[in-house]
Amino acid sequence: MIEAQSVWFSYAGGPTVIRGVSLSVSPSELVYIEGPNASGKTTLLKLLAGVYKPLRGRVLVDGLDTRKTPPHILARHVAMVFQDPGTQLVGRTLEEEAVFGVTIIGLDEGSVRKRFVKYLRTFGVLHPLSTPPRRLSLGEQRLVVLAACLARQPRFILLDEPFFGLDAETLTSVVQVLSSQGYGIVIASCHYPPFSPNKHLHLTDGKLQ
Ligand SMILES: Nc1ncnc2c1ncn2[C@@H]1O[C@H](COP(=O)(O)OP(=O)(O)OP(=O)(O)O)[C@@H](O)[C@H]1O
Ligand SMILES: [Mg+2]
Repeated sequence: MIEAQSVWFSYAGGPTVIRGVSLSVSPSELVYIEGPNASGKTTLLKLLAGVYKPLRGRVLVDGLDTRKTPPHILARHVAMVFQDPGTQLVGRTLEEEAVFGVTIIGLDEGSVRKRFVKYLRTFGVLHPLSTPPRRLSLGEQRLVVLAACLARQPRFILLDEPFFGLDAETLTSVVQVLSSQGYGIVIASCHYPPFSPNKHLHLTDGKLQ
């Protein structure tokens, strides 16, 4: 379970961006957060992932307080595909992409690579493993980062503006695969969802409705 409890956040010296947001996400649940540009979607997802820490309130991921839990522990519970997936690509080739740093979080490289390749193929990314990830299209890069996240077997996956690069049909089938495998999913987007989420929430000016 991910639980945000009355979370407030502002960037250093800036105005308040997230205002008293409470939200829960159960395993297998698909939560959709729709909101206009600059409403705070990316900030909220990064708070749920533990990348940012609440200034007031708290975020619990499977009972772990994100303010008190080191990143390598949180990584076993929650992963996020950023709005710009290019910032998350680390490998010189697809072969290298998923395994960077996995031993730090207590995973076996060989098993991670196997799961990564399986997810790539499931998502229809069929390029040879010698391909440099940056040569792929934006949508393929997003699927590569997603496959790398899933290969590390978190329980929750957060997708920031996934329509940017992915067509609605591809995204819908990806979401179906993740749901059928029991992942808790949070999607943030400024678009209306092309599928039926379990919860469809609206973020306006940092407030969730
Ligand atoms: N690193 C940062 N430092 C300071 N302010 C920031 C930073 N990142 C975002 N902001 C501000 O916080 C507010 C919310 O930004 P955020 O990126 O969370 O919105 P968003 O809903 O994801 O927008 P978009 O639809 O454009 O992706 C904006 O006013 C933005 O300028
Ligand atoms: Mg954003």
